[in-house]
Amino acid sequence: MVDNLFFRLEPLSKNNVVAAMRVVIRIGGSVAASPPNPELIRRYAELITDLRDKGHEIAVVVGGGKPARDFIKLAQELGLSEREQDEIAISVSRLLAQTLAMKIGGYEWKNIPTSIDEAAKTLRERSIVVMGGVKPGMTTDTVAALLASEIGAELIIKASDQEGIYTRDPRKYPDAEKLDETSFDELEKMLAENKHKAGIHQIIDPEALRILKEKRIKTIVVNGFKPENILLAINGVKIGTVIR
Ligand code: UTP
Repeated sequence: MVDNLFFRLEPLSKNNVVAAMRVVIRIGGSVAASPPNPELIRRYAELITDLRDKGHEIAVVVGGGKPARDFIKLAQELGLSEREQDEIAISVSRLLAQTLAMKIGGYEWKNIPTSIDEAAKTLRERSIVVMGGVKPGMTTDTVAALLASEIGAELIIKASDQEGIYTRDPRKYPDAEKLDETSFDELEKMLAENKHKAGIHQIIDPEALRILKEKRIKTIVVNGFKPENILLAINGVKIGTVIR
């Protein structure tokens, strides 16, 4: 376990309005990798460097998206076990993490942390860390929540393929309404009620939500196809759906 005392941030200079924050950004594979989007990955690399230069500490967790699902299907067709399918999906998410990390920092970034502790250490050393999955049987939402908890993050931002959280699945119901704010309790209830409706459960993994609720980590779901939304969320501008 990493001692959170190592993570004290220095205050920013008077010229900066927003205080330095420790933030976890969970970039959906559905956003950056379905299909892999070089322009978006380039913009995320710039954004992450820019945030670091502004004094923030940025931990990024990337999902596997469609490439991971394609490999899971391949593994299924080959009769590989669920654990093996997960291991393959984790490798795909790490490959995407590696690509983004290299674009941020060059070849010395090629090693992607394979555990939460290792990621916390890299963050402490470099103020930026990029990672994918860590272990079979979980999602990258949970990885992001565990990392946020370990490093004592003030904020976690989920860069999703929707504008935020809706009352119903917006891909199916045109009358679905976007929520500007919700609570962990309300969202837990919504996820339980909609358990069997495809799409809804994918907003955020209930296991991740449980961790974020327990640690009371402010969570914002935004449209990740517009990386500037991340900056707006960090700057306290009303965007996406805020969960607290
Ligand atoms: P995710 O479901 O977390 O990422 O991981 P995604 O597909 O990119 O989701 P969106 O589009 O961003 O919302 C894909 C799969 O990888 C395996 C699981 O099988 C998961 O469903 N995985 C991922 C693990 O087994 N362990 C991990 O730590 C991460």
